[in-house]
Amino acid sequence: MLYKKLITCTFSRQFSSDILRSIGKAAEIIDGKKIAGEIKKELKRDIEEWVQNNNNRAPSLVAILVGEDPASKKYVQFKMQAAKEVGINSSTIKLESSVSENDLLDLIDKLNKDDNCDGILVQLPVPDHVSERKVCNAVDPRKDVDGFHIHNIGRLCSNVETFVPCTALAVVELLKRSKIDTFGKNVVVCGRSKNVGLPMAMLLHSDYRNELPGLEATVTLCHRNTPPEELIHFTKRADVIISATGVVNLIRANMVKPGACVIDVGITRIETEDGKTKIVGDVDFEEVEKVAGYITPVPGGVGPMTVAMLMKNTFQAAKAFKVTT
Ligand code: GUN
Repeated sequence: MLYKKLITCTFSRQFSSDILRSIGKAAEIIDGKKIAGEIKKELKRDIEEWVQNNNNRAPSLVAILVGEDPASKKYVQFKMQAAKEVGINSSTIKLESSVSENDLLDLIDKLNKDDNCDGILVQLPVPDHVSERKVCNAVDPRKDVDGFHIHNIGRLCSNVETFVPCTALAVVELLKRSKIDTFGKNVVVCGRSKNVGLPMAMLLHSDYRNELPGLEATVTLCHRNTPPEELIHFTKRADVIISATGVVNLIRANMVKPGACVIDVGITRIETEDGKTKIVGDVDFEEVEKVAGYITPVPGGVGPMTVAMLMKNTFQAAKAFKVTT
């Protein structure tokens, strides 16, 4: 009865969620798979319209997969499947892990010059004998749907429109669509990688009145050298915690402020007691969902959203080129 009365009131989402938890409700699950499905549906409609109304060819995406890493193979498969769902032509070029850096750079150059290719991604990691930075910088910035080219990183840091790395875009979109307020809020990002933690922190702290709108949060960027007692000091005060470290169970219930939003970007494959494997994140989900106001699951949270954002970036690349048949 109390519960029913509460949800009919016009409280803010965050406030009503605090109260529901105090009467024993667990955190609201942010369903990344469902939201990604909605975004892909919107994209499919927009792409169809763009192709039909403007006599454009369908957007196209080429993935380069080097070597036999099972996780990389799976991710590329997900990307190709999503492309098919939204009406993007896609193909994967598979290369031996022994491929030379020069041969890989030559292939990228060929794709840069190919007018039938709008977006290029090189699935990372690349083998040790290949320079990841050289590879990322070899992709034409206008086809850099991963947003990893140094020019595009610079544009992101300057709040200028660009291809934003897909995981950072995914987190921002999840926050927006779940109506999580970030204006003036404390956000902790765990993990400072150039492809995930850094772009996320850039978007979160920036001014919303820019060409590339920011989320106006007060951001603390923690990393492997943040002492545990400092990490908990920051996370306990955070309205939003975003963890992208690959450290299983890094975020525990005692580190989370009641009602906070917890976004788990971690993906780690672990072995279960019965000898099978499963994917887990950075957050101790069972514990933290009892304290948090909102939480993303792993799998089914940020992962599918990242793929959907790649499709969005590919469409953006195709539109910028305005290639017609
Ligand atoms: N490896 C792990 N995540 C990514 C990603 O977002 N893009 C690419 N190209 N490789 C990855």
